[in-house]
Amino acid sequence: MTAVLEADSVTKTYEVDSTVIRAVDDVSLQICPGEFVALVGPSGSGKTTMLAMLAGLLKPTQGSIMIGGRKLHQMSDEQRTQFRREKVGFTFQSNNLVPYLTVRENVELMLKLNNQYTRQSQEQTLGLLAQLGLGDRLNNLPSQLSGGQQQRVAIARALVHNPAIVLADEPTASLDTARALQVVQTFASLIHAQNLAGIMVTHDLRMCQFVDKIIQMQDGKIARVFDSEQEIRAFSNAHMLN
Ligand SMILES: Nc1ncnc2c1ncn2[C@@H]1O[C@H](COP(=O)(O)OP(=O)(O)OP(=O)(O)O)[C@@H](O)[C@H]1O
Ligand SMILES: [Mg+2]
Repeated sequence: MTAVLEADSVTKTYEVDSTVIRAVDDVSLQICPGEFVALVGPSGSGKTTMLAMLAGLLKPTQGSIMIGGRKLHQMSDEQRTQFRREKVGFTFQSNNLVPYLTVRENVELMLKLNNQYTRQSQEQTLGLLAQLGLGDRLNNLPSQLSGGQQQRVAIARALVHNPAIVLADEPTASLDTARALQVVQTFASLIHAQNLAGIMVTHDLRMCQFVDKIIQMQDGKIARVFDSEQEIRAFSNAHMLN
């Protein structure tokens, strides 16, 4: 199958006090439609930097990113913004909800930005929010929600406009284990059902049981890839015991 998301020898360096930090160091990866990938690795290993480049939010120092066959950094800033809005859904480590909009309005904002605000898409929004356990919170402001509830709103917002790829940075960081498992399972089933390419950064390795591939980063590089069902099961089971 053809990859919808491709990184080709991507490197990102930062210079701080005349020291060069290689946040991401020569990473190549390919993700196909319907594939859900976990990006794992210790703090500072380059996961968020990689995700930001894949989303077109950060320009690689070297290498290129392609989404749907188009190189992100050959587009004008305006084209890239438009492309990202249509094709990419993401949730950040901090959830970035609009504080003065309700749960429902925060999610519907993505539909409005993409001219997809129809009766049908509004109904789908309500369905998605209900699936994520927020059906009774539609008219609350983010400040009236717990951290985990806010995170689930951010997940709904990343998925609602039918993007081609969805990128989630620690989507379960403030959820308890039962809720986290439920949210990642929902996330996985939506990715598979809608044939999206999904990447989730997570520190909670138990969440890896729902993915199709695990990419482990270390010092900005890909250290290991686990892609057989057996390896993935062994990996997440090992961490179930902790
Ligand atoms: N804007 C920046 N300027 C300088 N260094 C940076 C910048 N952003 C990230 N780094 C460095 O790049 C490295 C990778 O950071 P990154 O945020 O990608 O790690 P991470 O794997 O997401 O970590 P965590 O699990 O803690 O979120 C770290 O050493 C970090 O200090
Ligand atoms: Mg990070």
